[in-house]
Amino acid sequence: MGTIRLETTWDEGAVNQLLTRAFGRRAESELLDRLRSSGATVPQLCLVADQNSVIVGHICYNHVTLESDPPTKVVALAPMAVTPAFQNKGVGTALMKESLARADARGVPLVLVVGHPEYYPKFGFVPARSMGIEPPWPDIPDKAFMAKPLTAYREHMRGPVRYPEPFEDI
Ligand SMILES: CC(C)(COP(=O)(O)OP(=O)(O)OC[C@H]1O[C@@H](n2cnc3c(N)ncnc32)[C@H](O)[C@@H]1OP(=O)(O)O)[C@@H](O)C(=O)NCCC(=O)NCCS
Repeated sequence: MGTIRLETTWDEGAVNQLLTRAFGRRAESELLDRLRSSGATVPQLCLVADQNSVIVGHICYNHVTLESDPPTKVVALAPMAVTPAFQNKGVGTALMKESLARADARGVPLVLVVGHPEYYPKFGFVPARSMGIEPPWPDIPDKAFMAKPLTAYREHMRGPVRYPEPFEDI
């Protein structure tokens, strides 16, 4: 499966190509460009799976604000992809585990994701509404908006969440 390491600026072109291939469209690659240029991404949590200098997987997180009392800085996973030929070989799992461990070590209290309800629960994600966290947009199915509490999570961390502006366009 190769190495899981931090994404560098040199990887950006290959990551964008990977996203376009994995999602079969350019929307996620364009979203990542807007997230990067707006400063929404958390570079310390954006990782690649490097197989003999070929990028076969990618995961990234963004700063988001939970409107709790007081407001809490948390992160939202987006996007995540594994190149089609390498899917179902554990690359996504390795990226998830390493990035969640790094987030926990940085004191991030909570990770949010809008995504496949069948994929994320195995990593400890639960429907965010069950934790009192309201989605950033009204049309997200409850089961697709998920949250994972980390070590620094506290009970008061609930309420509506605001995603960075680039997400409005997708
Ligand atoms: C989703 C994705 C990142 C998973 O990466 P991966 O390296 O294939 O995943 P792993 O090999 O670690 O895990 C495979 C497991 O996930 C499951 N899985 C893979 N893709 C899935 C999906 N779209 N929905 C639900 N489960 C999925 C597999 O069935 C397998 O389950 P098992 O462990 O019970 O056998 C990858 O399939 C991908 O890039 N898909 C296209 C882009 C995408 O949908 N990104 C996520 C947006 S929310």
